[in-house]
Amino acid sequence: MLNSKVKPRHLAPPCFVAALATVVAAASAQAQGSRHLLAPWAPQAFYTSLARPAQAGRAPQPLYETRAVHDPDGTGKFYMGREIAQVMGPRGIPWLDRPQRESEEHPEVVIDALELHEGEVVADLGAGSGFFTFRMAPKVGKTGKVLAVDLQDEMLETIRERAAESKVTNVVEVKDTETDPELPANSVDLVLMVDVYHELSYPYEVMTKVREALKPDGRVVFVEYRKEDPRVPIKELHKMSVEQLDKEMKVVGLKRVRTVETLPLQHIVIYEKDEPLFGEVNSPLQTQTASLTPARLGMRSCWIYANLTSKLAITGRWGAIPPV
Ligand SMILES: C[S@@+](CC[C@H](N)C(=O)[O-])C[C@H]1O[C@@H](n2cnc3c(N)ncnc32)[C@H](O)[C@@H]1O
Repeated sequence: MLNSKVKPRHLAPPCFVAALATVVAAASAQAQGSRHLLAPWAPQAFYTSLARPAQAGRAPQPLYETRAVHDPDGTGKFYMGREIAQVMGPRGIPWLDRPQRESEEHPEVVIDALELHEGEVVADLGAGSGFFTFRMAPKVGKTGKVLAVDLQDEMLETIRERAAESKVTNVVEVKDTETDPELPANSVDLVLMVDVYHELSYPYEVMTKVREALKPDGRVVFVEYRKEDPRVPIKELHKMSVEQLDKEMKVVGLKRVRTVETLPLQHIVIYEKDEPLFGEVNSPLQTQTASLTPARLGMRSCWIYANLTSKLAITGRWGAIPPV
């Protein structure tokens, strides 16, 4: 019989058993595909595993690999089975600005697909010489802004000169790093990446930050040469398939919402934030667990333990408790 003389340590075994029962039941519920049995009671770590089905929002392990045998156009660094391409240097500027690019790539189709509005803040990530920066600037108008983001000083210098020559005042150059696009959290309506993603040295880190930089209804738009089409005359590592993009966006919590396949060589692939990840403001799981103090967790563990043992006594096996 319990009385005030009982030392706390005498309470330890039942609590330990209850906690253990919680974990075992959680594992059993997960094995059965049940999301209901322990939903309000399971420990936070278990919630996290439920929050991200099929690895959504989870870093792949290992994140990157280096291989000695690789494509000569590549870096030897692999991410999710794909070799990362080499970064185009400033000597590529004439190719980016070649006059026939207009007729080969139809940039006006890309601009239409972006559905830009006056006043929006958009980032041209990997802006290069600004081929798309200066096509987006008139669309967002004087009340909006285009952040022309690039790693390389020569690219940013070219953009600065062009903005001055054409008296464009709503373009802001941003020098970023390989791991951080330097975009403040919750600040941009759209991030455009044309012919860039395949050459990011740290795609997981950059896209995680890009997701954070998006406003709640923000979108990320990739324009990449079609890997699915062997007739597209571009080196293999400089192409991306939609399937690979989907895989890589899923792990950073982005979901594809639209694909435009009307360009001759490239696809336009549009993503938005998937539902909030665990730990983010507005996450439904965060709301559920916010009230989960240790005392409540203990009480609920004991409650579930009692239910499970009575179920065991009645049916002779562990299992999901029917909803009441
Ligand atoms: C092939 S160019 C494309 C330029 C431009 N988007 C266009 O379509 O004309 C790729 C650009 O991405 C830039 N880049 C590569 N990795 C980057 C990173 N992590 N952050 C910003 N820019 C990056 C390179 O410096 C280069 O200017």
